[in-house]
Amino acid sequence: MLQATTVVLLALTVGASQVFGHTGCGGHEIARRNPGGPVINSRAELRSLQSRRPLGPRQAVTDEASAAQSIDPTQECTAYSYTPVLNAKSGFPTIWQTAEIVPGDNDATTLFASINSTVNSKFPNIGPKGSHTGNFTGVAYNNSDPDCWWTWRQCTTPAADTGLHADITTVPEPDTWGFGFDDGPNCSHNALYDYLRDNGQKATMFYIGSNVMDWPLQALRGLDDGHEICVHTWSHQYMTSFTNEEAFAELYYTRKAIQTVLGVTPKCWRPPYGDVDNRIRLIAESLNLTNIVWSDDTEDWKVGTDGVTAEDVGLNYQAVIDKVGNGTYTSSGPVVLNHELNNFTMSEMVTYYEKIRAAFKYVVPIAAAYNWTTPYVETNVTFPDFLTYTNQSSSSSSSSASPSASAAGSNGAGAVASGSRSGSATSTAASGAASTTAARSSAALGMDAKGAAVWGFSFMLIGRIALSMC
Ligand SMILES: *[C@@H]1O[C@H](CO)[C@@H](O)[C@H](O)[C@H]1NC(C)=O
Ligand SMILES: *[C@@H]1O[C@H](CO)[C@@H](O)[C@H](O)[C@H]1NC(C)=O
Ligand SMILES: *[C@@H]1O[C@H](CO)[C@@H](O)[C@H](O)[C@H]1NC(C)=O
Ligand SMILES: *[C@@H]1O[C@H](CO)[C@@H](O)[C@H](O)[C@H]1NC(C)=O
Ligand SMILES: *[C@@H]1O[C@H](CO)[C@@H](O)[C@H](O)[C@H]1NC(C)=O
Ligand SMILES: *[C@@H]1O[C@H](CO)[C@@H](O)[C@H](O)[C@H]1NC(C)=O
Ligand SMILES: *[C@@H]1O[C@H](CO)[C@@H](O)[C@H](O)[C@H]1NC(C)=O
Ligand SMILES: *[C@@H]1O[C@H](CO)[C@@H](O)[C@H](O)[C@H]1NC(C)=O
Ligand SMILES: *[C@@H]1O[C@H](CO)[C@@H](O)[C@H](O)[C@H]1NC(C)=O
Ligand SMILES: *[C@@H]1O[C@H](CO)[C@@H](O)[C@H](O)[C@H]1NC(C)=O
Ligand SMILES: [Zn+2]
Repeated sequence: MLQATTVVLLALTVGASQVFGHTGCGGHEIARRNPGGPVINSRAELRSLQSRRPLGPRQAVTDEASAAQSIDPTQECTAYSYTPVLNAKSGFPTIWQTAEIVPGDNDATTLFASINSTVNSKFPNIGPKGSHTGNFTGVAYNNSDPDCWWTWRQCTTPAADTGLHADITTVPEPDTWGFGFDDGPNCSHNALYDYLRDNGQKATMFYIGSNVMDWPLQALRGLDDGHEICVHTWSHQYMTSFTNEEAFAELYYTRKAIQTVLGVTPKCWRPPYGDVDNRIRLIAESLNLTNIVWSDDTEDWKVGTDGVTAEDVGLNYQAVIDKVGNGTYTSSGPVVLNHELNNFTMSEMVTYYEKIRAAFKYVVPIAAAYNWTTPYVETNVTFPDFLTYTNQSSSSSSSSASPSASAAGSNGAGAVASGSRSGSATSTAASGAASTTAARSSAALGMDAKGAAVWGFSFMLIGRIALSMC
């Protein structure tokens, strides 16, 4: 789905002859994700897959620990079957397709009915915009940006009378890097996660629901390594293009997938491509999800397209690092966009990590920056606040800065980070029979300004836009 070119055609006219060159921008990632390995639907399917690609000894994935062993992407990305997902799958939408409420899901139906009526009464005039892949050609939109549509001009602060919260774009601590990765869990993330573990570094992980269902043991590693887990939608498409129901389902079932597989219910999310408006914000807030966007984009996702090279991404990293030196972050730090998307994006962070640590005073997950000590609905799983996190990470103790079960939990601190999951993955058809419980379960902004409407504009994102002018 990666496009060879990034083109933003933006047409904006106010009055018949007045044509504005637009300085718009938008941080964008790739379009649809490569679906990776499929969740196996049946034992027969698994048998057939394994007969085509016999598993070697190191590929025998049975639990979180065995899934975490290899750092060979081919081995890591060999599909496996995981009983809790097999058992739950019928209650979820089809992976990598636009989510809708699953027929017969009464909880979702009831909750949505209430959210839908709130949305319809509050924002009767905001409808779906453009296509799921970000083609906004022909979308008429009021130049005054009534919907606070991020993709239009990066609006992140809805008008006060909407009652909506502003998006999070920065961290409140000076010279502090708000650290996270989008688009995981990627099947081949072990080298990156090993590196983070060895450095006592936690991050905010924005997981795609379909990836969680595909790679549940990789998702479990994310939680158990002490990272903060947030929602990054079910199918990774443009949220403002969805009906209320689809937008709801994209968030609801990703939240539920994370709850089903990891045992925790996130309270934060990030819209793919940043594509959010007030209607989508209200749906997300109704699910108690805080919207975290970003202030700086490394554009790591873009390498290989538009002639963007690894060197260009390096320059983007360096630019953020350099801004510490000129005082940009003396009152608050950046939230930086980078990805757990492929070998390059993960390697690039490893390449720059030491420089980032040297330049910034602190590198922290968003929860720590904001003292969100109970980042999940389940309040028995806690996260270190800023002081605790920075204190402990500077003394290079990685385990003690991990999220932990609160004192109320019988196992005390460390229970979450170190607990082993009950083995419920099966790598062979035979062992799959055992019933197991779920483990704890622009062409340089190729802009073409021309247009016709008295108000409104149309623009087309073929894939994505660059953030360079933001
Ligand atoms: C939700 O609201 C939309 C209008 O925005 C309406 O078309 C749809 O039928 C509603 N869905 C439900 C399930 O009420
Ligand atoms: C975008 O949508 C417009 C109108 O809906 C269509 O004419 C155009 O071909 C689409 N562009 C792409 C790249 O799909
Ligand atoms: C565009 O928004 C402005 C300010 O909210 C409003 O005054 C104007 O009537 C709107 N224009 C149209 C065509 O809706
Ligand atoms: C959101 O949080 C409130 C307050 O804790 C709770 O009553 C409500 O049920 C939650 N809504 C959802 C959809 O989880
Ligand atoms: C620091 O450098 C950046 C990038 O060159 C620039 O945009 C910004 O205005 C500078 N800030 C200050 C405070 O000099
Ligand atoms: C995961 O990373 C590999 C590279 O190691 C890449 O080929 C694959 O497309 C990624 N999978 C997803 C679902 O992003
Ligand atoms: C990138 O892939 C190579 C093998 O192709 C692997 O050795 C390396 O660990 C990977 N790096 C990351 C950060 O995933
Ligand atoms: C987090 O806690 C620290 C120490 O108590 C405090 O200085 C800081 O302002 C808090 N940050 C936020 C966003 O509340
Ligand atoms: C920081 O570490 C020191 C020494 O390990 C300890 O005494 C202190 O209580 C810690 N402070 C916080 C806020 O965790
Ligand atoms: C947290 O509480 C839930 C029940 O609400 C339980 O299933 C889970 O095991 C607990 N987690 C920990 C780490 O204690
Ligand atoms: Zn993304």
